[in-house]
Amino acid sequence: MVARIATLFVLLFWLPVITSSSSASSSLSVCIVGSGIGGSSVAHFLREYSSPSASISIRVFERHGVVGGRMARVNVGGDSFEAGGSILHPKNYYALNYTRLIGLKIRWPNATSASDGRDDDGDFGIWDGKGFVFKTWRVSSKLPFLDKIVSFANTALLFWRYGFSLIRMDNFVQRTVNNFLKYYENTDSRPVFETVEEMLKWAGLYDLTGQTLEEELISTGLSPLLIRELITVITRINYGQSVSISGLAGAVSMAGSGGGLWSVQGGNWQMAAGLLNHSNVALHLREEIQSISNLGNYYELNSSEGNSYKCEVAVVATPLDELDIRFDPPVSIPPRKLHHTHATFVRGLLNPAYFGLGSVEEIPDLVGTIEDPGLPFSSISVLKRHDEKEVTYKVFSREAMADTLLDQIFSVRKETIRIDWGAYPHYKAPEVFAPFILDGQHLYYVNAFENAASTMETSAVAAENVARLILSRQFGHVPLKLSGSESSVADEGVLHLDL
Ligand SMILES: Cc1cc2nc3c(=O)[nH]c(=O)nc-3n(C[C@H](O)[C@H](O)[C@H](O)COP(=O)(O)OP(=O)(O)OC[C@H]3O[C@@H](n4cnc5c(N)ncnc54)[C@H](O)[C@@H]3O)c2cc1C
Ligand SMILES: *[C@@H]1O[C@H](CO)[C@@H](O)[C@H](O)[C@H]1NC(C)=O
Ligand SMILES: *[C@@H]1O[C@H](CO)[C@@H](O)[C@H](O)[C@H]1NC(C)=O
Ligand SMILES: *[C@@H]1O[C@H](CO)[C@@H](O)[C@H](O)[C@H]1NC(C)=O
Ligand SMILES: *[C@@H]1O[C@H](CO)[C@@H](O)[C@H](O)[C@H]1NC(C)=O
Repeated sequence: MVARIATLFVLLFWLPVITSSSSASSSLSVCIVGSGIGGSSVAHFLREYSSPSASISIRVFERHGVVGGRMARVNVGGDSFEAGGSILHPKNYYALNYTRLIGLKIRWPNATSASDGRDDDGDFGIWDGKGFVFKTWRVSSKLPFLDKIVSFANTALLFWRYGFSLIRMDNFVQRTVNNFLKYYENTDSRPVFETVEEMLKWAGLYDLTGQTLEEELISTGLSPLLIRELITVITRINYGQSVSISGLAGAVSMAGSGGGLWSVQGGNWQMAAGLLNHSNVALHLREEIQSISNLGNYYELNSSEGNSYKCEVAVVATPLDELDIRFDPPVSIPPRKLHHTHATFVRGLLNPAYFGLGSVEEIPDLVGTIEDPGLPFSSISVLKRHDEKEVTYKVFSREAMADTLLDQIFSVRKETIRIDWGAYPHYKAPEVFAPFILDGQHLYYVNAFENAASTMETSAVAAENVARLILSRQFGHVPLKLSGSESSVADEGVLHLDL
């Protein structure tokens, strides 16, 4: 009886809310600038979290002729490889769900026909400019049991050099990954965040942005040798920077060097393409947004094509650091520098003499480097072995690789492609964050989260929050997840009252 009365009360109480919110949600126009995983995820989650009756019109603007942004492909000698964001973590759950939703095939590193991305079965070495201070063994046998022995021997080699610090390192990464998993909790228990700081504090990740990775790891008790070598190699490969990046960016980059890493067969950019395709958006390719003006009830976005669009909500889903979008009134965000990573793709053959070696076979598949101003590159990795005389490599460096330098490192060079990426923020500690809401009104900034860490998945996680933020601020309630059924709201209310 008590429950009945409570139900009635709740229904009466909620009815106006439900009806008013569904009538208020009758229309909304959203303009999204950028078609990378951030912009396409905002579109996806706006659809996912709004009731089917809501008529939300979504426009997505992309200055380039192709969607995906930093998820881009490069063609080298007829083969296609990831040029930007390449590897995903096994716990990148939004990305995993996207592949399922869109019907994309996953390329696991253990697949036999590894044809692009990092070859995890390959050997690895740390180059200090004079020699390899560390080198694993290569699996050259086709016998599976030997694989096991070699991998055991490689683990033993690692422990021999770096000791039990490796276990502390692993614990540190596991802890951070586990905290990050909170962002996948049910939307009932997971708040909507107005600032990056709040979002990080809620998951217990904020403190990691207050000190450098090096400080963090020293206080965790890691050996200086492990930090100077293996961990430096990892941060240089994944963020092009030293261990002076923030502890959080460092932990994320270390998680991106573990096992089980995957990518989308045929290209990660297809995640953005598929999300946009499924989200019923008006996609404007080759149209750059040049100005965003707040005209009271709406924003006016003017483009390079001379067009002018009106939207009640505007979402910036690209880093603002190197753009000159004019905002009226102007917005002010903390200054941030993008770190430029030069990705150089070479089809040819490395020169063993450059590494002081007798034959090219002795050069590891992945050459990492320590922090030394004299070293002209951060890493060199094998993307594909065509035959003994021809291999496609990817070189990461902080400066452009000049031809004279490449001619020392390579003995054969049939094709060279250079890409200068404004890749990710130049990380520091303590880190400062731009707000998700740029003007206190309805202008949003997904890439404020990039100061925490820049990955495909973190862009998706930030986008999910921005989509919920838009809907909750627009319609005055936290949006419904499952099929937007109104009765589920009432049921929830009953539950709370009965308790
Ligand atoms: C070399 C490299 C390696 C990386 N490796 C990894 C990795 O292995 N794993 C991983 O998870 N992440 C990796 N990352 C990071 C990852 O790629 C990014 O964090 C992620 O793709 C960012 O997505 P985004 O949608 O936020 O931004 P972006 O992908 O940059 O998308 C922004 C889009 O906005 C468009 N745009 C900009 N200005 C305008 C305008 N005015 N009008 C219209 N359109 C505009 C741009 O053209 C772009 O398409 C790597 C990045 C680089 C550069
Ligand atoms: C590769 O790894 C994935 C995930 O761990 C697993 O599901 C798959 O079966 C593995 N494939 C092979 C060929 O071992
Ligand atoms: C992924 O999709 C499944 C099935 O639709 C869903 O149950 C799960 O909550 C999704 N995961 C995330 C992190 O959204
Ligand atoms: C878009 O989705 C439809 C089905 O929903 C599919 O047939 C089509 O191939 C998709 N296009 C792209 C470019 O992904
Ligand atoms: C945008 O375009 C409109 C229509 O052409 C024009 O009136 C307005 O001044 C433009 N705004 C800016 C900031 O350039």
